[in-house]
Amino acid sequence: MTDRPRLTVLGTGYLGMTHAACMASEGFEVLGLDIDAEKVARLNAGDVPIFEPGLEELVKDGLSSGRLRFTTSYEEAAEFGDVHFVCVGTPQRRDGHDGADLSQVEACIDGLAPGLTRPCLIVGKSTVPAGTAAVLAERATALAPAGDAVELAWNPEFLREGHGVQDTLSPDRLVIGVTSAHAEEVLRTVYAPQLEAGIPLFVTDRPTAELAKVAANAFLATKISFINAVAEVCDKASADVTVLAQVLGADARIGSAFLQPGLGFGGGCLPKDVRAFLARAGELGAGDALKFLREVDAINLGRRTGMVDLAREVAGGSVSGKAVCVLGAAFKPGSDDVRDSPALDVAKILHGYGAEVTVYDPQALANARKVCPELSYADSAIAAATGADVVLLLTDWPEFGKLDPEELGAVTSTRAIVDGRYMLDPAAWRAAGWVYRASGIPAPADSQSSSMAKQSS
Ligand code: UDX
Repeated sequence: MTDRPRLTVLGTGYLGMTHAACMASEGFEVLGLDIDAEKVARLNAGDVPIFEPGLEELVKDGLSSGRLRFTTSYEEAAEFGDVHFVCVGTPQRRDGHDGADLSQVEACIDGLAPGLTRPCLIVGKSTVPAGTAAVLAERATALAPAGDAVELAWNPEFLREGHGVQDTLSPDRLVIGVTSAHAEEVLRTVYAPQLEAGIPLFVTDRPTAELAKVAANAFLATKISFINAVAEVCDKASADVTVLAQVLGADARIGSAFLQPGLGFGGGCLPKDVRAFLARAGELGAGDALKFLREVDAINLGRRTGMVDLAREVAGGSVSGKAVCVLGAAFKPGSDDVRDSPALDVAKILHGYGAEVTVYDPQALANARKVCPELSYADSAIAAATGADVVLLLTDWPEFGKLDPEELGAVTSTRAIVDGRYMLDPAAWRAAGWVYRASGIPAPADSQSSSMAKQSS
């Protein structure tokens, strides 16, 4: 192996595309692989098919420097690479089981290993159940002509969509699960820029590294569901959950991150990781230890039906035949991803109840149209709200926080809004004649105490 190993990145989703471009930007020669020939052609032309700030520039730089290119050929990848990063998806299984579907990681090993004729390191980055690395390592050495000279390590990735480049180049921490000093040394070379910058490195066994990712995501999900459960108590107690979240977050032991109440979590990771963690714990005989995660999941899904109930309430009991404006389709702001999007889920349920739903999102309209062709779409918040009987704010894009109650009220049929992300000032909207509803925010008659708390803070 050379001083600077040549890298392959297998799978060019959010994770792989970002990892490949970032490694090339650090001077490594990188070959990205995907089985989707159309995507590979687009990437080789510098056309990044996802919305990820800064990524397209990095891909273009990598291509023009000659350090980055993409292929569909496993033979070429096996021949090229000293270190092979596995970045394919591990979605939830579709057969009713809550565990992770490992078919893509298995296919990746099966495609790569027969071409491995010299010593190399396979590094899993995909999120997998504890114990997967050991099984894949056996599979790889059995299939590879180089046999035991093929090593396998696990290096979970914690990048957030919308911050992928920054999280890859400068993560909070690096975790590598290895079985040899050699594998550690290789990964220290790959991550030299991060280590020089003082980013902490945890060198662990493989199961600890595998668990680091699902445990982190399960904790974040638990924090969100905790504050959302508290929002429901606030509703009954006429308390204000947004003020309460600030009070809790000011405690350094708790911290304010991931304590933002609202419609709850979605996306390609948190929901399925919570379920896969629970499923794997059950297989290992530790299911009881994590049974609270079932509640975390239920609280989260309950936010979606709760939002539908609020919409029906402000619409006078039924949304059937009513024009409903949904602001937001992405699972979170800064992303065009609609996988398990709470916003789109609520829009679909309302459509199912007979509402005429029009959706606006600053980035995710194209993806939303593909998965929910039955809904109507508009190119601006004002256009989506025109003629609406109810407006729902469901993804916390900054532009929605700047909406003007008079401007929006001038185009809607009725001034009724459900704020699913606590972005609007209830007093200002109510003063403009709007019926403003949000779970965990006191109704006007009860709001004196919480506005006093806000004023004195
Ligand atoms: C997550 C993890 O943060 C990341 O480390 C991992 O690698 C992949 O999964 P991501 O899916 O990009 O990243 O989204 P994230 O920013 O974590 O948000 C997840 C969901 O939680 C979103 O739907 C977001 O709207 C919601 N959320 C987040 C809240 O409802 N409240 C909060 O306080 C924070």
